[in-house]
Amino acid sequence: MYTIDHSHTIMSIKAGVFSTIVSQSILLTLLCSFVAGENQDFVRSLDRKLYGFKKEKLSHFRVYWHDIYSAPNPTAMPIVRAPSNTSATLFGSMSMIDDPLTVKPELSSKLIGGAQGLYGSAGQEETALLMAMNFVFLQGKYNGSTISILGRNGVFSKVREMPVIGGSGLFRFARGYAHASTHSYDLKSGDAVVEYNVYVLHY
Ligand SMILES: *[C@@H]1O[C@H](CO)[C@@H](O)[C@H](O)[C@H]1NC(C)=O
Ligand SMILES: *[C@@H]1O[C@H](CO)[C@@H](O)[C@H](O)[C@H]1NC(C)=O
Repeated sequence: MYTIDHSHTIMSIKAGVFSTIVSQSILLTLLCSFVAGENQDFVRSLDRKLYGFKKEKLSHFRVYWHDIYSAPNPTAMPIVRAPSNTSATLFGSMSMIDDPLTVKPELSSKLIGGAQGLYGSAGQEETALLMAMNFVFLQGKYNGSTISILGRNGVFSKVREMPVIGGSGLFRFARGYAHASTHSYDLKSGDAVVEYNVYVLHY
């Protein structure tokens, strides 16, 4: 008797617990769908074609990047000195740039746009810069559109590859890479002309 009563009690407790779990999970499901419904108020799916993103294309731009430290019109400025004067790579130093981008290696050639951003020495053993810059175009249909480049620039390598991580204007959804190769470098002034070949997928 006692055993039966006891198991009945356990059964009824179990049933109680079970129904509590069921009602709790129903409540949770309702709550979740309510919250999900709330969430969907600020996000919606779009037809990309209606927004002009029809066919992705691959473009190649070749520009010359002029990093000028010398007077009278420097385009690159040291903003952080290397914290240690014993670092051969000037680890920790940084420069801010607004470098002209031209169609030919000569600064007097046609201006395509500018490279605005900064770079810093990020290698302790090897000279490697962290580049963070936006190429701002000024010509024709590209006027005002930008390409964002973020990457490692081992300046003494012949060709350095850096990722294109995005863009604006005609370069919305851009992705790709840039190949940089030094055209000329003046050890004394630090002035450099670098050829940038940028390969970018965009719409
Ligand atoms: C290098 O830095 C140390 C410590 O800051 C300083 O004592 C020393 O004079 C510096 N050496 C040179 C050559 O500037
Ligand atoms: C580029 O756009 C700016 C501002 O929108 C305008 O002032 C300038 O004339 C444009 N340049 C070219 C070459 O279209």
